[in-house]
Amino acid sequence: MKGIILHGGHGTRLRPLTHTGPKQLLPIANKAMSQYALEDLKTAGVTEIGIIIGDVFPEKVKEYYGNGEKFGVKITYIYQDSPKGISHAIRLCKDFIGNDKFIVYLGDNVLRKNLIDYTKKFQESNSDAMILLCKVDDPQRFGIAELDKDNLGKIKKIMEKPKTPPSDLAVIGIYFLTPKIFKVIDRLKPSWRGELEITEALQMLMDDGNKIEYDTVTGWWKDTGTPEDIIHANKLVLDSIGTENQFLIDSDAEIKDNVVVGTGTIIDNDSCIIGPVIIGKNCIIGPGVQLGPYVSVGDNSNLKCCTIQDSIIMRDCNVNAKVDFDSSIISHGSEIMASDIPKKCQLLLGERSQINL
Ligand code: TTP
Repeated sequence: MKGIILHGGHGTRLRPLTHTGPKQLLPIANKAMSQYALEDLKTAGVTEIGIIIGDVFPEKVKEYYGNGEKFGVKITYIYQDSPKGISHAIRLCKDFIGNDKFIVYLGDNVLRKNLIDYTKKFQESNSDAMILLCKVDDPQRFGIAELDKDNLGKIKKIMEKPKTPPSDLAVIGIYFLTPKIFKVIDRLKPSWRGELEITEALQMLMDDGNKIEYDTVTGWWKDTGTPEDIIHANKLVLDSIGTENQFLIDSDAEIKDNVVVGTGTIIDNDSCIIGPVIIGKNCIIGPGVQLGPYVSVGDNSNLKCCTIQDSIIMRDCNVNAKVDFDSSIISHGSEIMASDIPKKCQLLLGERSQINL
């Protein structure tokens, strides 16, 4: 079986974070979002991976993953000249896939459970596609599947972002497919938003009499299209960091619950960290810092005098401010200074921002 990870798309809902790179490389718990997808595929035994790169800084994806060797996989890059839809991206992989069954993983989807069982099930089945469904609170935002009331093992209909959803079962961004999908995509027409939709391709595949099965996702799944989604995904991933990676911290600072700290990081005694929190390598935390819960700090960042919770501070940041940050994303190389007046704020900062509050 082969894998495809999508790194195209516009990423408009994540601006300004996507002004300097594709959203799939934004860090969640200090790891590029799409690396979770790559590791899921690898754990399921899929090591031949095609990465779709689009027109938002494709070279950054190549720089991060290289030929895949570092990650124990073999990567082929496939270029999508503009974001004409998920089905369009899949169609570009026809030669790469050949006659194999394959898994398409949207690079901005993060799943709690690994893919081992689903992959085995699809490999052994005679289905032409398999989708994964997850209950959601806001079905209008997703591709939705309606199950056949008389035969709950069967899907009746699949539709994209319905105004009046017939169910709350979202089709998540991991699709198990066979080469039959390529012929279907050849017949697809662009939707009202100008894209070749994956939901329409799946519906057509079903209408042609092919067998599509489904499985339901246990545990959480997150589609990280917006800044709020990214902060939520960071929280979900941090909830599962164990203590087994806990680095022995040479500090008298107050440190509670699961806190993972990279080598070379110094935590000042006059600081307090409440997990789950992850801090990268070579950071200086303190004095006067309160971190957590649910904070990720990238490598080489220096934090002073601030209180931070539910937030992502990327690498090479410098914060020296009596400020209480909540639900914030601060991109690589940003610098935040402030006067002595304590403030509360929520920030969404693009790369190398400089602010004086
Ligand atoms: P979306 O989040 O639906 O679209 P987008 O990335 O353009 O974001 P926005 O709506 O904020 O502008 O895309 C889902 C995933 O599929 C995401 O990982 C990007 C990827 N994708 C492609 O690789 N090619 C495409 O043509 C499209 C539309 C999406």
